[in-house]
Amino acid sequence: MKSFEKLLLENKAWAKEKLENDPDFFNNLAGIQNPEFLWIGCSDSRVSANEITGTQPGEIFVHRNIANMVVHTDLNLLSVLDYAVNHLHVKHIIVCGHYGCGGIKASMTKHSFGILNKWLRNIKDVYRIYRKEIDALHSEGEKVNMLTELNVKEQCLNLIQTSIVQKSWKHNGYPQIHGWVYGLSTGIIKPIIDIPVGTHLDDIYEFDDL
Ligand code: CO
Repeated sequence: MKSFEKLLLENKAWAKEKLENDPDFFNNLAGIQNPEFLWIGCSDSRVSANEITGTQPGEIFVHRNIANMVVHTDLNLLSVLDYAVNHLHVKHIIVCGHYGCGGIKASMTKHSFGILNKWLRNIKDVYRIYRKEIDALHSEGEKVNMLTELNVKEQCLNLIQTSIVQKSWKHNGYPQIHGWVYGLSTGIIKPIIDIPVGTHLDDIYEFDDL
């Protein structure tokens, strides 16, 4: 059997098991999508939103890219964010990075990665902001971990700088923003930052006519 054929076989077994536990499982899910959470995570194959949080299909709306970035010109991210906030009315947005992130590591090197340079540039910009405290650390591992945590924080700030989040804060009173980092070697998520609704942001990025 080819590797991809095994996926289809596993899918049949999974669907059968779900139906055995709850005959209406797929009927209920097919009717409506009502997740409470938007997850912005890394594309890394080891950091599956549902699996590491013990959640089921239907519970988390997911966007993933290299190094869990919130890039304000990324039409993909913005479309997901707008849909999640304004149509699904998610109450929480979670930005989840992970230690040992290849995207973070790559951004701290001087190697050229071709088209990826454009994406990694966004992480390098975060490195520049926090360069002093990162470079004060001794080992490469500590530096990567520190940038991983600070990058998550910075992406949370990028979220509240969008008109989408600011407008929803003003009119709806949600979503709350949470920044987490997942440990590949422990399986445990470390909370880094919580941004409650209405938190004051740098007024350079504030809209006062939403
Ligand atoms: Co990663």
